[in-house]
Amino acid sequence: TDGSRADVAEVVRTHLRDIPDFPTPGVVFKDFTPLIADGPAMKTLVMDIAGRYAGRVDVVVGIEARGFILGAAVAYELGLGMVPIRKAGKLPGQTLKESYSLEYGHAEIEVHTDAFEPGQRVLIIDDVLATGGTAEATAALVERAGAHVTAIEVVLELAFLGGRRRLGGRDVNAILTV
Ligand code: PRP
Ligand code: MG
Repeated sequence: TDGSRADVAEVVRTHLRDIPDFPTPGVVFKDFTPLIADGPAMKTLVMDIAGRYAGRVDVVVGIEARGFILGAAVAYELGLGMVPIRKAGKLPGQTLKESYSLEYGHAEIEVHTDAFEPGQRVLIIDDVLATGGTAEATAALVERAGAHVTAIEVVLELAFLGGRRRLGGRDVNAILTV
């Protein structure tokens, strides 16, 4: 490919798989395992994301679980470190915690209190932006831990769920929007 935005979106579109009725009846799950299983597709995706942030960020944040896969690859490409945001109870050190609402019930995620140097510029990476609750809680954790959220990057945005509105004026980029 020539590396254009449209090409990267097309690579993502053609490597996502619809799984009907997962995790619950009526939901069509967007499975990105075919995307990460394909070497050239993964390379195209990671190089596209890394190219947008070279020189603009100091550290990459990956959101458990699928954000770890992309976040680590992008951090490696940029020569930066990666900070994991984990589901509550998984990080061993002292943590900050945020609760957020899911479609049903709620979830809690954490970051280590000493994960960032003061004022570090952070790129947050995840696979999907749906209702925006996960990304919003992650941005709050990053800021509470003393760093600055430069941008939020996702592979797929489910625009009909309105997550971007919840993220206010933040810089949110989706490779593919449906
Ligand atoms: C999914 C997805 C995003 C989040 C998006 O993760 O990977 O992280 O939901 O939803 P939201 O915008 O409505 O918050 P999930 O919570 O299923 O966990 P996982 O990545 O560990 O599978
Ligand atoms: Mg997730």
